[in-house]
Amino acid sequence: MRTVNPIRQIVDKLRDEDMNPNKSKLSLSIGDPTVFGNLKTDKMVEEAIIKAVQEGKCNGYAPSMGRDDARKAVATRYSLKNHSVKMSDVVICSGASGALDICIQALCNEGDEILLPQPGFSLYTTLAGSKGIEAKYYNLKSNDAWKVDLEHARSLVTSKTRAILVNNPSNPCGSVYDAAHLKDIINFAEEFKLPIIADEIYADMIFDETEKFIHMAELTDTVPILSVGGIAKQFLVPGYRVGWIIIYDKMGYMNQLRDGIQRLTTLILGANTLVQGALPYIFEKVEPSFYKNLNRSLKESSDYTAERISNIKGLSAIRPQGAMYCMIGIDIDMFDDQINDDVEFSSLLLKEESLIVLPGQCFRMKNFFRVVTCPSKNDLVEAYDRLEQFCARHLRK
Ligand SMILES: Cc1ncc(COP(=O)(O)O)c(C=O)c1O
Repeated sequence: MRTVNPIRQIVDKLRDEDMNPNKSKLSLSIGDPTVFGNLKTDKMVEEAIIKAVQEGKCNGYAPSMGRDDARKAVATRYSLKNHSVKMSDVVICSGASGALDICIQALCNEGDEILLPQPGFSLYTTLAGSKGIEAKYYNLKSNDAWKVDLEHARSLVTSKTRAILVNNPSNPCGSVYDAAHLKDIINFAEEFKLPIIADEIYADMIFDETEKFIHMAELTDTVPILSVGGIAKQFLVPGYRVGWIIIYDKMGYMNQLRDGIQRLTTLILGANTLVQGALPYIFEKVEPSFYKNLNRSLKESSDYTAERISNIKGLSAIRPQGAMYCMIGIDIDMFDDQINDDVEFSSLLLKEESLIVLPGQCFRMKNFFRVVTCPSKNDLVEAYDRLEQFCARHLRK
């Protein structure tokens, strides 16, 4: 009963039957890049799966930590200048969510505390709560590129704090931290001897073509980092359900924890074997142009989103720098009496415009809402036209 998904509680209030019957449904709410039909995975990913099926070697159970070839492929791809990753440092999981579950359980017992971002991906709350682990939420600064408020984080640390989770690039913010800020977070973790769970599922999905994505582990040899990743977003295949944990721990602080992680992987009989078998081929064959094109397309949609929002009275957004989301602030005082918070805003938007957005409260951020920037340009144009008309209609006179 303590397993609660906060999104469900809020989104269940936004029901399809409440939509405007005269307008087609337009959804900017689902963090699944495949549902809009315009973003397709690479041909080589499909080929890799077909090959794995036809070879017939991936029909059985794999070791609970993952197939050797998949673990080696992840180790090679994510070895960093300062960390040579070995197969034994990689754990293949059922998606990044499965990886997060294992990381949180491995580091925290019931009654322990974990630092989570606010706003943040709601699954963190669900996973911690389900195990009786207390979530302490550190603020991200909406007026400073969604950077971590380290002073606030500092005020939350107690003798029961076991880890800090950092999500970069961020869902729901679309923010990407630079090396200096990541280093500040690492220094904070070092000061309090906290290991970092780095949710890097959106790794490399950044828009500035002159920059390279920075893994947190690149910036430290001393703070142990569990980096969580997967193929869901970057390869546009969330349904394949393969993710991983990479243990970056030069100092060996996590030697005991490795045993705990290994034990936890035996709770289910492993991640999808077929996709694991396809992983080395996927990594080898997908050309850099695939990622480049995806990032360009997401950048275009994000820039378009930020530009349209900047012209809508009552709304504001920080231009996303990566991932596939944008958080939009609602200046509640500018709206009429029908709109008193983000949930009322979103439900009225659904009712009048058949447009679905996720209220910020799903991410513990009142008076914001999140849009997904994956839909086609045509859908985004239509969505923001409707949003603009809706806001104009409901501005306080
Ligand atoms: C920040 C973040 N972490 C993890 C996940 C889960 O990824 P997976 O589909 O690989 O379980 C998501 C999915 O939306 C996400 O946004």
